[in-house]
Amino acid sequence: MAEKAQWQELGAADEFAKQELSEASLGKQKLAVSYRDGRFGVVSGTCNHAGGPLGKGRLDGDYVVCPWHNWKFHRCTGKGEPGFEEDCVPAYELRVKDGRLEVRLDTVTQRAKKPHAPHPLARKIERAPGGMRVAGISTTNMDEANPRYSTSDALLGVALEHARDALKCDTKLIRLSSLKFRNCEGYYSKSANACTWPCSITQMDDQDELTEVYEALVHWADVVLVSTPIRWGVASALYFKMAERLNCIQNQITIRDNVLIRRKVAAFIITGGQDNVQGVAGEMLCFFSELGFHFPQFPYIAHSRGWSAEDMERNVAHVMHSEELRTGAQMLAARAVELAKTLVATAPMEEKTARGGRKAYRLEIERSP
Ligand code: FES
Repeated sequence: MAEKAQWQELGAADEFAKQELSEASLGKQKLAVSYRDGRFGVVSGTCNHAGGPLGKGRLDGDYVVCPWHNWKFHRCTGKGEPGFEEDCVPAYELRVKDGRLEVRLDTVTQRAKKPHAPHPLARKIERAPGGMRVAGISTTNMDEANPRYSTSDALLGVALEHARDALKCDTKLIRLSSLKFRNCEGYYSKSANACTWPCSITQMDDQDELTEVYEALVHWADVVLVSTPIRWGVASALYFKMAERLNCIQNQITIRDNVLIRRKVAAFIITGGQDNVQGVAGEMLCFFSELGFHFPQFPYIAHSRGWSAEDMERNVAHVMHSEELRTGAQMLAARAVELAKTLVATAPMEEKTARGGRKAYRLEIERSP
């Protein structure tokens, strides 16, 4: 004898018909209910990618678009968008009975996740054998085709040269002005889980060039030297554009207790025609400490001629010819490399960091799937 169909009521059909897409609940399960061209569709409300709430997304034709990272699933069949059909979410048979929308529980299709190759950045973090590695990140804005003399960039060059020639380190210079990368688009504001490692943008957009910075910070470097000019009392706009995209590293600590940066040292070079060195240094120290970096004693060098010195030509000439600043940049690199050597030699890689400060509590979200 045939099994009796199992129908479960979701609610008034005409209420669901008022919106193209809405979220409904079936016990603990979320569903995405759609209504278009006089026809209902009901699929699971949980996205295959990172669990985004499909019922809170939008419709693109007959596809439900996830509000987190825009994966698409057919609103009636649950199948992924063309080319990704095998990547599907459960779809429900439905009917309208006595004005109520009902779904059938005994014929739900299966969820299937087409394997997606993990992004190369997601690989295990293991320090490759070899000597010390120093990455310099220059955050000043620059017309790459017509470069100008930048005091912060020049001193970073001095520090890297010293690390390479005198300290026998591998070095790498990354100029943010030569990279094309998108602004952080606020995935964390949608949901803590929507901000992923690797960065959601990096995973979705293979043209985005911030990958080079992530590679250097998380996988390659033992020491990161960051240089910035002072603009209106704060670090450069490119510094903040990068910092916002590094939120995903910090967010892993917050929501997963997953510390990506270990045994690494950061130090800073800050120059400005006018003042606020300590304010800029304080901000950078705060941010990089939240990422998990260590700092050498005296973790930054800086130069500023102060509020009344608006003569930029002399400022540039001063830095160009200052032996004191050259030596300062070299010694900053030396202090940072010395600390990194100690950390690499003595700190275990698989350590679990004891939680402290702002991270001393567990978030509810860590217990969610
Ligand atoms: S696209 Fe749905 S969670 Fe990422």
